[in-house]
Amino acid sequence: MEPVEQLVRADEGLVKRAIFSDEEIFREEINRIFSRAWLFVGHESLIPNPDDYFVSRMGSDSVILTRNRQGEIQVLLNSCTHRGMKLCRYDQGNNRTFTCPYHGWSFSTDGNLVERPGELVGVPGHASHYKGDLDKKQWGLKRVAHVHNYKGAIFATWDAGAPAFEDYLGDMRYYLDSALDHRDGSPGGSIVIGGVQKWRVGSNWKMPAENFIGDLYHDISHRSVDIVGIGPSGGRGRRDAMKGRVAIAFPALGHGLLGNLPHYEEPEYQANYAADPEIEKYYRDVHQARIRNLGNQMRVRHRVGTIFPNMSFHGWQPRTITVYHPISPSEMEMWRMYLVDADAPAGVKEAARHYFLRYSGPGGMTESDDMENWTGATEASRGSIAREMYFNYQMGIGHCKPVPELRGAVVSNEFTEENARAYYRRWGQFMSGKSWDELMPTYEIKDEACLPLTGS
Ligand code: FES
Repeated sequence: MEPVEQLVRADEGLVKRAIFSDEEIFREEINRIFSRAWLFVGHESLIPNPDDYFVSRMGSDSVILTRNRQGEIQVLLNSCTHRGMKLCRYDQGNNRTFTCPYHGWSFSTDGNLVERPGELVGVPGHASHYKGDLDKKQWGLKRVAHVHNYKGAIFATWDAGAPAFEDYLGDMRYYLDSALDHRDGSPGGSIVIGGVQKWRVGSNWKMPAENFIGDLYHDISHRSVDIVGIGPSGGRGRRDAMKGRVAIAFPALGHGLLGNLPHYEEPEYQANYAADPEIEKYYRDVHQARIRNLGNQMRVRHRVGTIFPNMSFHGWQPRTITVYHPISPSEMEMWRMYLVDADAPAGVKEAARHYFLRYSGPGGMTESDDMENWTGATEASRGSIAREMYFNYQMGIGHCKPVPELRGAVVSNEFTEENARAYYRRWGQFMSGKSWDELMPTYEIKDEACLPLTGS
């Protein structure tokens, strides 16, 4: 593999196209990023009851998110320890014992039977074929090193030496809160409705992560959405699209977002459901509750952002979570979940569901626009000539400012590619194999260059 410092020259705004197409780089991403970073696995509302499970992914590994009878949430590798068979082949369900279809080994999550979820409890022929010699304690399912339930969103890492999740998240947490915990801060306040939309896209997985971290410049792609009145740019065109908005990046962590001004005043409520008084009243009340709950972070109403490496979210309506699972250098599986308040009236939930369906997902209008760009850019960057060239991320170098209220953050209220530079700088750090001591920042920011002093 080419030296990482040649692949990503973030300070110059240059990223080599090979990182979106090369097989060897892709394999190293799986090893160096997805085996170490904190990854979003699912939402607790997908497993609300004892024995519920939801099959998810961490990099190229299938995993089972489980809630056992004792309420413990665990993430287990979905691969039998005997000969590797994919243990659970359903998307989700309710079960406390997973029996392998190949030779019949079974694994339990029930705390009344096992000390830790995933232990091997049944082996056909244990006495007759194995003569009782097989130590079942040694052959339980592999568990992640750490699981963290952050306000209903479940994150996990395979790396026992990883920092605490909230350190990994940093002050990006304020914006994740606006999606997960926006109204009253109570656990279980939000639920995923309508199931999880899953679809494959012929794109490298980093393209949407970069898009959601703050690419307002691509606003022109969504003109068709503007024309029918549900577009993110409100039909105003590129020149005005940045008006009233800010881009915030966390250069030492690789996270970033787009938000709405005003920066130092509480935003006005905007009526969106005037035709339905019940829904309008609900969202007006929710807006006031958000201000009380979220406080200062409401000064920048979060619109959309990315948490390194492969999770994005919308923090206002619609509130969504999106994950980009790497399949190959030129293919990803995109998962999208929509959050609503668990106690919202049925009419509000139904209106939200319809909005989600027409706005995003595989049949929605915005993602259709974006997928065309991501697949086209991936395809056109694979050739022997194209793969040696660099993408340009030079917009706004040196024109952002530190945010005093946020550790390690920089902000721009002009079009910028600072957020993408932050993302790829972080990608380079992971791909260089740096230790967690080197990866975790001290949050000092050089004013003039918008770069972290440490963690680079
Ligand atoms: Fe699962 Fe043999 S592969 S029991």
